[in-house]
Amino acid sequence: MIHIRKANHMDVQGISKVCSDGYWATYKDTHSEKYINRVIEEFYNPDRILNEVTNTSREWGGYFVAIEGNEVIGAGGGGMIDETAGEVFVLYLNPNRRNEGIGTRILDAITKQQIEEFHASEQWVSVAKGNQKGIPFYEARGFIFKHERGSYGNEEGEQYISLRYYRPI
Ligand SMILES: CC(C)(COP(=O)(O)OP(=O)(O)OC[C@H]1O[C@@H](n2cnc3c(N)ncnc32)[C@H](O)[C@@H]1OP(=O)(O)O)[C@@H](O)C(=O)NCCC(=O)NCCS
Repeated sequence: MIHIRKANHMDVQGISKVCSDGYWATYKDTHSEKYINRVIEEFYNPDRILNEVTNTSREWGGYFVAIEGNEVIGAGGGGMIDETAGEVFVLYLNPNRRNEGIGTRILDAITKQQIEEFHASEQWVSVAKGNQKGIPFYEARGFIFKHERGSYGNEEGEQYISLRYYRPI
């Protein structure tokens, strides 16, 4: 049985693993190894995740995890980017567990938090252009493409474009 709940300090290693494995599986064909390693080291290191499960706010609502047995098989989280707009900042699964409905359940938990606790009426997400493991999912969940924007920190001079998607919630 798969259970979705708010993450705590016990989940740190599992979140770090699922996000790192998920990031590799998603970007290995489109992004450089150096770029992938830099993102994983910066965002999915256990120290940062411990802080992110401990210190939550309106701007960062914390991680939600999908748990099966004692294992974290998916993780995601978001926060508010203005008065009424929430955003999904991160959402990854164990790469062997895609298309079972788990991502939808984590997204639902993030969305419920943004509506009930933070009064969101819309929700945004950034997806890398060409990410065919992510874009069809968000489109199936009602997100609509809004515009392109340059991706976060490309120190290697690589041009990774991200797409901004939006839906009313
Ligand atoms: C994105 C992700 C979290 C979604 O979770 P998931 O558990 O695989 O998705 P679900 O099973 O809940 O839902 C899949 C939906 O997308 C649709 N979908 C998936 N792939 C599709 C494709 N190639 N074409 C059309 N629809 C597709 C399915 O039809 C399903 O919609 P439905 O329930 O209406 O049929 C997961 O696939 C993942 O980890 N992807 C790689 C990481 C990633 O890209 N994360 C997002 C970064 S912003």
